[in-house]
Amino acid sequence: MSLEGGGGGAGGAGGAGGDERGFQALTKKVTRERGISCESYKEKCLKRRIAVRMRARGVHTYTDYARLLDHDAREYQELLDALTINVTKFFRNPETWEALRPHLAELWATRHRAGSRLRVWSAGCASGEEPYTIAVLLAETLGDDLLDQSLIDATDIDRLSLERTHQALYPDTAFTEMPASLKRRYFVDQQPVPRIREILRVLAHDLTREPPPRPVYDLIVCRNVVIYFEREAQERLFQVFVNALAPGGVLLLGKVETLFGPAREQLTLVDPRERIYVRPA
Ligand SMILES: C[S@@+](CC[C@H](N)C(=O)[O-])C[C@H]1O[C@@H](n2cnc3c(N)ncnc32)[C@H](O)[C@@H]1O
Repeated sequence: MSLEGGGGGAGGAGGAGGDERGFQALTKKVTRERGISCESYKEKCLKRRIAVRMRARGVHTYTDYARLLDHDAREYQELLDALTINVTKFFRNPETWEALRPHLAELWATRHRAGSRLRVWSAGCASGEEPYTIAVLLAETLGDDLLDQSLIDATDIDRLSLERTHQALYPDTAFTEMPASLKRRYFVDQQPVPRIREILRVLAHDLTREPPPRPVYDLIVCRNVVIYFEREAQERLFQVFVNALAPGGVLLLGKVETLFGPAREQLTLVDPRERIYVRPA
């Protein structure tokens, strides 16, 4: 198996197939010590990211890199950051959020009639830009008065990302895709206003092995996460999402992610371009 982008170092070892055992030992170590189930991620992705870190540290074999991790906590964190990939933005792919708006309004109307709160799960939320984007859209849809009739579970496996979500203090670069008028209305000093923050519950959660934080959601948003998972892990997770969706509930995936397997039969694809699926009521 070749190691993508490995160059002469880690790439040379993987390309020669000589360090496969070292790779397996390293990923097992990370799984054992840091609880990331590496077997659920695409091997090619893992190798590419580990190679980046090995090159950065001038290490040529997986075994030497594993040894380095034992006495370099900072490098361990760098590796975990590299493996989890936390790239995100407010209103990432603005057209997707525009397409979601009418669905939010419909979901809210149904929940409101039933006299209950609108339940949202932002799964793999990184540093929080995605769940805060949803909170802003909810504020626009429900109005400030009714915003507390909704709740968002913002979950991620990466603790540093969760701390950033809690802290909720964002650099200018996070806002480049967000309409300026919404930023003015819902942010002060680069932070979401309290009424937006208050509907978020930030939780550590591993999508590859834990049940959903709540049994039922009206909207599940999971974008740019499953793309890194092996096919079986994706299929398992899709079924978890379907089981957790209320009748009429909506699932939003990333732009290049596609639902497949038995879960696909249970949801209706209502917007193929924006990957919006609905569970029939
Ligand atoms: C590229 S970011 C996507 C952020 C956001 N959803 C978006 O589209 O802008 C991927 C996120 O998935 C998280 N992630 C990766 N594996 C995960 C797992 N097994 N369980 C939960 N989150 C995971 C990473 O930590 C990272 O924050």
